[in-house]
Amino acid sequence: MSSLYRAPRGTFDILPEEHVYWKYVEDKAAFWCRLYGYRPLSMPIFEDAQVFTRAVGGATDIVDKEMYVFQDKGGQDLALRAEGTAPVCRAYLEHGMFNLAQPVKLYYIGPTFRYERPQAGRYRQHHQFGYEALGEADPVLDAEVIEMAWRLFLSLGLSGVSIQLNSIGCKTCRPRFLEVLRQHYSVHAENVCADCKGRLARNPLRLLDCKKDYCRELAEAAPKTLDYLCDDCRSHFESVRDYLEKLSIPFHLNHRLVRGLDYYTRTVFEVEPEEMGGQSSLGGGGRYDDLIETLGGRPTPAVGFAAGLERIVLNLKKQNPGIPPLPGPVAYVAYLGQEAKTEAVRLTSELRKDGLAVIMATGDKSLKAQMRHADSLGSSCVVILGREEIQNRTAVVRDMSSGEQRTVAEGDLANVLECRKHPT
Ligand code: HAM
Repeated sequence: MSSLYRAPRGTFDILPEEHVYWKYVEDKAAFWCRLYGYRPLSMPIFEDAQVFTRAVGGATDIVDKEMYVFQDKGGQDLALRAEGTAPVCRAYLEHGMFNLAQPVKLYYIGPTFRYERPQAGRYRQHHQFGYEALGEADPVLDAEVIEMAWRLFLSLGLSGVSIQLNSIGCKTCRPRFLEVLRQHYSVHAENVCADCKGRLARNPLRLLDCKKDYCRELAEAAPKTLDYLCDDCRSHFESVRDYLEKLSIPFHLNHRLVRGLDYYTRTVFEVEPEEMGGQSSLGGGGRYDDLIETLGGRPTPAVGFAAGLERIVLNLKKQNPGIPPLPGPVAYVAYLGQEAKTEAVRLTSELRKDGLAVIMATGDKSLKAQMRHADSLGSSCVVILGREEIQNRTAVVRDMSSGEQRTVAEGDLANVLECRKHPT
């Protein structure tokens, strides 16, 4: 039977059996956030569209081509969350978090929407885990943000992950670099791809990360941002690298790394998986010292990172680093006859009150069918109630792997099951 409707193109359901991966990643993310002092923030799934257009930049693919924008019934232009950093900054300003001790450290996990051409690892709805440290310019924080990303990926058990690092300067030194970059490309303007022709006019920095062969060669030979940094940006970047070296965090300098959002200043970095293909970064981030001012606040330096959960899960499935299964029910309560069923309802409820994950059979299934059901749910044992057990206030406990059965007094049942509980 095929269903009448399907999930929209570029979106998919995360089925119960997939959640073992998702929970694994989300638990690790929350663990590292707690260790590094980040507190959770949940933002709305849609924002005033200008939060993204002003922050991310009109000449970026995200704003130009990929945002889900709509007008609500009140005529307001809204956009589904296209990324997490701008909404965090909006919330920071809205709730006066600039009055708190700085930096304010916040993290989030949630769906993100981009109208992209769907392919493996690229979806129209994906989920991002991100963290942002707002209100501090110290390069030690850039290093800490990168260190935390590195620790997270190591702890996930993913091998072959690498960190790409660059500095793209600030509003003082970047104009000069863009001028030199334009000069480099001006001779080749006719031969670059159609996208790069647009970039040359509107967003020259993005010329450096074009993936097309010819443009890539040009980018390799292009001037490097690092050679045009002002003194402040240069010493900031030197400090970031020094701290990373002190922390023994490996990184590769990548002069073509510029990121796809316009708000970055100085440090930019990406976490790449073992097999790099297309634009497959597991996560990316950097410093964005002008963004809060762009959204109406006082000049406030900030730095952060976000990773795509789908891409992490894809890589976990590929590498299979031994993810612990989600615990199944500790027991399945089966019954023989109506009288035992009524008793099973009461007993199941009592066991749940004792904190035990118990599933009760339903309907008129044979005992054999109930056993099969228990097995399919991954229950480690079955508690069987029949007429005799009710009369004696006992239950039969059957171990599903050994097939062994023993009779247990009802008063001891919770304790017996407690001993079989999976560690959580
Ligand atoms: P981003 O690089 O656009 O950065 O996205 C972060 C991560 O989200 C990517 O590295 C990728 O893993 C995942 N991702 C992005 N688009 C898709 C997609 N269409 N399908 C699946 N996964 C995707 C940001 O959004 C910045 N806000 C990161 C940041 C935080 N910078 C500073 N703080």
